[in-house]
Amino acid sequence: MSVGIDEISFYTSNYYLDLRTLAQQQQTDPEKYYTGIGQEKMGMPAPDEDIVTMAANAALPIIERIGSDTISTLLFATETGIDQSKSAGVYVHRLLGLHSNCRVVELKQACYSATAALQMACALVERQPERKVLVIASDIARYELGTPGEATQGCGAVAMLISAAPRLLEIYPEVGNFTDDVMDFWRPNYRATALVDGKYSTKIYLKALKKAWEHFVQATSASFTDFGRFCYHLPFSRMAQKAHQHLAKLNHTELTPVEIEQQIEDTLRYNQIIGNSYTASMYIGLCSLLEHCQENLSEQKIGFFSYGSGCVAEFFSGRVMPGYQQALHRQRHAQLLEARQAVSYDEYLQLWHHPDPQQGESLMIPHTTPGRFRLAAISHHKREYVIC
Ligand code: CAA
Repeated sequence: MSVGIDEISFYTSNYYLDLRTLAQQQQTDPEKYYTGIGQEKMGMPAPDEDIVTMAANAALPIIERIGSDTISTLLFATETGIDQSKSAGVYVHRLLGLHSNCRVVELKQACYSATAALQMACALVERQPERKVLVIASDIARYELGTPGEATQGCGAVAMLISAAPRLLEIYPEVGNFTDDVMDFWRPNYRATALVDGKYSTKIYLKALKKAWEHFVQATSASFTDFGRFCYHLPFSRMAQKAHQHLAKLNHTELTPVEIEQQIEDTLRYNQIIGNSYTASMYIGLCSLLEHCQENLSEQKIGFFSYGSGCVAEFFSGRVMPGYQQALHRQRHAQLLEARQAVSYDEYLQLWHHPDPQQGESLMIPHTTPGRFRLAAISHHKREYVIC
């Protein structure tokens, strides 16, 4: 029996800052961003958007197709938690009208947790193949203004339906893991922005790739040439390009630099104009691959490298299902991205500084997002979500 991703849908904010605007303000060469880190735009959430509203918006097309009663478990993966106790997924459960017998839980390990959620979902479906599990990853990447990380912000959510006999991608059970207690990127409970040792984090990312790949090869006897395409965690596109060159070199590949680049280039397209979406990013990358690749990917094997700072990494793989093209939301994603609006630098600052009550202050939030779900208010320490 095959188990894997039956459907995938993503959502991002209506607003973005073009990195040329940021570069102009910083009197930096825009090519540092466009070429140097491989990013063009970064999504900025509206004041009435957060991980919950983005998650519900991402999952909506799936629920509209299959109905709200069929989901047995909702696994919500995020780095941008909004509560120390209550799962963000429980709000999504109500917004989507899921059944009261549906189990809900939130998972955290920086940008890795969606992969843990995916693996758990596959295991649950293996046990009860008639069940469907909804995995949602939703994050807002936020760094301090004026820091090297600033240009690598972004936001997005991705929803994946995990089932038996999936229409998109079979996920194979063999994995390679690597865990190490390091401080490359972290965010203490009292901070809204991440702390990061940028250069060190890129080195640890590459080290984790090598270690997870070696463990994967040990477990599977797989080789680099088994895979037609590779999806990487995408803090910024250039990171994936460096990682893939690194992996190709470790494996003494005979591929040309152009062929190596072709193995990942279609995974980068959405990320380049959305920015980092932490644990959602690799799966938005998968969506980008399936929706942009001109070649028919049916039966191709895809290698995945999932990385979460701190750090936990995993290499795993999957097989693209024949006919996958019919199960995509290509048109919907194109419309979502085309409708977005660029913000000026001042508007970006206003969005960045939008109040996030820490001490229980009440806040009425103006209706800004065109999305179906919005955060309307925060009062008495409670977040109030509404369906528009
Ligand atoms: N034209 C073309 N390229 C240019 C250029 C120009 N005018 N100016 C600079 N560049 C190039 C540089 O040569 C460099 O390329 P290489 O890396 O190939 O040498 C690249 O642009 C970036 O320039 P800098 O190294 O000077 O950039 P920086 O130090 O200001 O910032 C960064 C880079 C440290 C990665 C920073 O973006 C950062 O801190 N980001 C957040 C942390 C991060 O994303 N880490 C990734 C691994 S951790 C992870 O993956 C988890 C996660 O999601 C955060």
